[in-house]
Amino acid sequence: MRAGSGTAVGAGVARLEGVAKVTGAALYSHEYQVAGAVHAWAVTSDIPRGRVTRIDAADALAQPGVITVLTSDNAPRLAEREGDLALLQSPRVAFHGQLVAAVVAETSEAAREAAALVRVSYEKEEHDAVLREDAPGIYEPESVNGGFPGRREKGDVAAGLAEAPVRLDVTYTTPPEHAAPMEPHAAVASWDGDTLTLHDSNQGPFRTAQRVAGLFEVPVENIRVISEHIGGGFGSKALVRPPTVLAALAARAVGRPVKVAMTRQQMFTLVTYRTPTVQRVRIGAERDGRLRALWHDALQQSSRLTEYCEQTTTPTRAMYATPALRTTHRLARLDVPTPGWVRAPGEAPGMYGLESAMDELAYALDLDPIELRVRNEPEVEPDSGRAFSSRSLVACLRDGARRFGWDGTRDRTPGVRREGPWLVGTGVAAARYPVHIMPSTASARAEPDGRFTVRIAAVDIGTGARTALTQLAAEALGAPLDRVTLELGRSAYGFAEFAGGSAGINSWGWAVDKACRALIAELGGRGGAVGPEGVEVAADTTDDVAALPDLARHAFGAQFAEVRVDAVTGQVRVERLLGVFAAGRVVNARTARSQLVGAMIMGLSMALHEVLEPDPRFGDFANHDLATYHIAAHADIRGIEAHWLPEEDERVNPLGTKGIGELGIVGAAAAIGNAVHHATGVRVRELPILMERVR
Ligand code: MOS
Repeated sequence: MRAGSGTAVGAGVARLEGVAKVTGAALYSHEYQVAGAVHAWAVTSDIPRGRVTRIDAADALAQPGVITVLTSDNAPRLAEREGDLALLQSPRVAFHGQLVAAVVAETSEAAREAAALVRVSYEKEEHDAVLREDAPGIYEPESVNGGFPGRREKGDVAAGLAEAPVRLDVTYTTPPEHAAPMEPHAAVASWDGDTLTLHDSNQGPFRTAQRVAGLFEVPVENIRVISEHIGGGFGSKALVRPPTVLAALAARAVGRPVKVAMTRQQMFTLVTYRTPTVQRVRIGAERDGRLRALWHDALQQSSRLTEYCEQTTTPTRAMYATPALRTTHRLARLDVPTPGWVRAPGEAPGMYGLESAMDELAYALDLDPIELRVRNEPEVEPDSGRAFSSRSLVACLRDGARRFGWDGTRDRTPGVRREGPWLVGTGVAAARYPVHIMPSTASARAEPDGRFTVRIAAVDIGTGARTALTQLAAEALGAPLDRVTLELGRSAYGFAEFAGGSAGINSWGWAVDKACRALIAELGGRGGAVGPEGVEVAADTTDDVAALPDLARHAFGAQFAEVRVDAVTGQVRVERLLGVFAAGRVVNARTARSQLVGAMIMGLSMALHEVLEPDPRFGDFANHDLATYHIAAHADIRGIEAHWLPEEDERVNPLGTKGIGELGIVGAAAAIGNAVHHATGVRVRELPILMERVR
């Protein structure tokens, strides 16, 4: 483990762009003033399935300021004819809210007004847009998100479940959820011949350039994506979404720069959402709590356009020792938008199912739920048999129990602690998130004036990545923080992955560290002489990442919740949420804490509020704004604490970091659900825990 060497790694350095953000000097994509820019406005389908037979744009075109109305008849051709990004390439309609036309006008207002005047006729087909066990055509996909096998099995699960003295067979459901970043998706596209400049709100400028280059069949170097400041993504901006393509397509069509900004309502169908899940957990256990067999299955949905199957039962592959383990995924292809990544995809819903079931098992055994988990602590990763690079689950549970006040005196009896109108209870759940490490390139430059410039096509989606990467660069350079300028958010800086899978610091940080150390070595070879031109070196971690030993790499944590439930109305208040995490080395104590606390709040939001309501008649979501899609507000947050254990893991990667962005959401909903059961005796197996479900 490298020492901090006095360059502020680990310290709570305030965000370097903080003042620029709060004073409005930091520009978000749509705020860039591009000379001559016009505006595109989406017209979306009113039907979930069928085809567009006619588009009458006469009234729209007659409006002042309207330049054109793009449809599948006149839009420029893309390299793809079908799929989520094949905008206006065919008259087929695959989901309610799909883009069927777009108005381009001199102002945003004119485009919006004209869009309302575009008359679209359809040939409608029968649709099916609600996930259920008897949905037609359910199948098991070969692989799930992340490239994991859809089904894994070891040992005799059937025998273990049949013969175990204590058995549990329970089904949990989680609803579709919306990512809901603060900054709606937006793009400004300007073509100059076959070169495109794109100010775009995304989680990965290089990957965006690559995808857009493919769609428009130009070399990736021709697409210059600039993503300096991003107001959140939560997964919805990791892959290219329709707004980006619409801006580029419309700019191509009219020969002028085009701006696109999604309304909050449009985002509910055009930029993905989390799949609903139906999870069945079957466990067989010995009377002492040791697992004999575990089967976790998840039924989920995808669109007709794309097979996306969330990796909901893969977390179970890494959690508890058992001689027999089966994890399966099933998928229904419905007339819905394609679901995608939202805030710990797979992990957040999957660990809700598993950790709720572990609590139910603890009750079936009359055992403390922490003790149950300790008794099932594995030596190696249960599914793969690989060694862990490090595993601190038990340490997190023990430390959390001490801080939270969970000890031998806790009365497990549900529904008996009453304080005035409130029933009071506590719950616990485990957290786990895999350590993703992806290859990246970066460059480091010694300037003639003694400063350093480090460049990487990373992106700061609001997490503090810019600040943490600057700290890592300063450490590697042995320079004070204020002598290092870290530039990110531009695809032109070379290959780097998107901000996703909590992998930013592991992946970008490694490339930054490598580039900076190579620069110091280069300067050493020159006797420290920088010269008038400066000295620049580049680094690429592709081979380093490929050479990592085959270990099970995960961050762990423990979530504790104390709730009060109104005995009359069933209203749930989370009095305390306390998490203890072990995620390797923490680069910035301030931004790490806000990542963990923010994610725990998302877990609370998942537990109590968030639900998209599918409307079977129209095939869309009945709620599609922030007035009807409820997200936790300040008033929901009372006591909230995030702690982390010092964890030195020299085998995880050279930086010793595990990633911290998504870990905090995992397990939080289960801890709250388990506390609601402890308070009331009611086991709600359907998220969110609405008051009518508690009573
Ligand atoms: Mo994040 S949901 O892995 O982009």
